[in-house]
Amino acid sequence: MDGSRIWDAVDAYVTAHLAPDDEVTAAALRDSEAAGLPGVNVTANQGKLLQLLAEIQGARTVLEIGTLGGYSTIWLARALPADGRLVSLEYSPRHAEVAVRNIARAGLDQRVEVRVGAALDSLPLLADENPPPFDLVFIDADKVNSARYVEWALRLTRAGSLIVVDNVVRDGRVVDADSDAEDVRGSREALELIGAHPRLSGTAIQTVGAKGYDGFALARVLA
Ligand code: SAH
Ligand code: DHB
Ligand code: MG
Repeated sequence: MDGSRIWDAVDAYVTAHLAPDDEVTAAALRDSEAAGLPGVNVTANQGKLLQLLAEIQGARTVLEIGTLGGYSTIWLARALPADGRLVSLEYSPRHAEVAVRNIARAGLDQRVEVRVGAALDSLPLLADENPPPFDLVFIDADKVNSARYVEWALRLTRAGSLIVVDNVVRDGRVVDADSDAEDVRGSREALELIGAHPRLSGTAIQTVGAKGYDGFALARVLA
């Protein structure tokens, strides 16, 4: 892709100075790759953004949908106090197994719980437990269901909670209203739900970087 080299260089520069991987996050990436997991984790500077958002939020509780090898999980969980809690939902037992090891090595296993299963099955079970509202929800799983996950996030949060939806631009394909690609349809549905929902105030930002051209949405729960 044109421009990707300069984006890569800027990501490398920014990451080196502001969001460097440490031994633990680097090991998480290394072991994820060695286990054959797809390299679709957030970049380090995006992970740092997630950590900052959770810190700004004063988050004590985080819900993540889509764990993969636990890389974004580690960035988010580092924002939590020692008695904080992060629940991460992952469909693939193989991904979850790698994540659990990475999270334990990060010393975060007291704070983080990975639950295996399709998120649309895990979410009603989680809701049945009446957990304290989540202060931040990071949606980063199967893009086709992103709007469903936003709806679940609304049930599991409070006024002032923050919802982050990853990968809503997909090389700009998001503008194709006639697309039959399910990720595009899912992202459009999520964005339009956020825009129309009376309990949400949100925006979306395009990004370029080491992972190409994509973007994320942020939505604040109003009531
Ligand atoms: N958040 C991770 C990346 C997640 S990749 C990071 O940035 O480090 C997307 C993950 O969602 C994959 O591990 C995939 O197995 C998982 N996934 C896909 N469909 C799912 C579903 N229906 N429920 C829960 N997880 C799902
Ligand atoms: C994909 C998934 C992601 O969460 C991501 O950040 C990038 C790509 C994917 O499944 O293609
Ligand atoms: Mg993602």
